[in-house]
Amino acid sequence: MEEDILAQPARVLTQAQREFYFENGYLLLVGVIGDDWLTRLRSAMEDVVDRGRGMTKSDDAIWLEKGHSRSDPRLLRLNCPDAHHPEFWTYARKSILPDIAVDLVGPDVRYSHSLINFKWAEVGQEVKWHQDIQFYPHTNYSLLSLGTMIEDIGPDQGPVRAVPGSHLGEVFPHYAEDGTWAACIQDHDLESLKVDEAPMLMGPAGSVTVHNCRTVHGSDPNVSVRGRPLLVNTYSAADAFPYTHLPQWSTNTGTIVRGKSATQARLDPRPCPLPPDWSGGFSANNAATGEIRGDGPEL
Ligand SMILES: [Fe+2]
Repeated sequence: MEEDILAQPARVLTQAQREFYFENGYLLLVGVIGDDWLTRLRSAMEDVVDRGRGMTKSDDAIWLEKGHSRSDPRLLRLNCPDAHHPEFWTYARKSILPDIAVDLVGPDVRYSHSLINFKWAEVGQEVKWHQDIQFYPHTNYSLLSLGTMIEDIGPDQGPVRAVPGSHLGEVFPHYAEDGTWAACIQDHDLESLKVDEAPMLMGPAGSVTVHNCRTVHGSDPNVSVRGRPLLVNTYSAADAFPYTHLPQWSTNTGTIVRGKSATQARLDPRPCPLPPDWSGGFSANNAATGEIRGDGPEL
């Protein structure tokens, strides 16, 4: 499959970047989003922050950090930004992002979902080491997430860190010993991974991180005075279909954003642990054990 993808001419990536992704499970693309898009994304994000100012508790769309107030807004996450501001859906379809996906999953690309992790200045929390696919198993592992840096991201802002080559290894259970959903890899499994050596994916605003749905990744707290807003868009090959209820989904989920629809699902025989039943919703208050803050499926 990788050979078939690599045999097709690349749209936006170099062949070396494509090969790096398949070998390492992640990629850092520095400065690939222009100022025009950044201006539009920042404006849309400000609209969201303004909406959050009036909130006193999290809702399904906006999750708040502790200490949030109208005068000192602290947002944790916006779920499904594509459903809450048209600019984000336009970006998901019309920007370079689906073209990056084409270069890595093949010509036919299916949109899955988006979110913004704000990682607010000084309060943005650690995201523990995890893999994404356990949150939303699909018939194959072509899913990848593209993280757009809306502002500059440096080492003290809790950049994403990815473990090279981990996408080729085990898909670890994300449950604690007592059977409750932990939303992260357990300590005894982490021992087999060289997480201390995982590189930080940093860059100026307009840079994009890429990671495969099997890649082990996480991030440290934001200890800086600057926020770390990251817009995460997840895509897959058109022949990857979810078989559990998605934690994040919108009416745009499943839209073919490049190429054509699949006529059948492609089935990868490698098994994936099932998540809890998200059919009742996935929010700051009920996800996982009720202590989902900072332990969500993304970055
Ligand atoms: Fe993640």
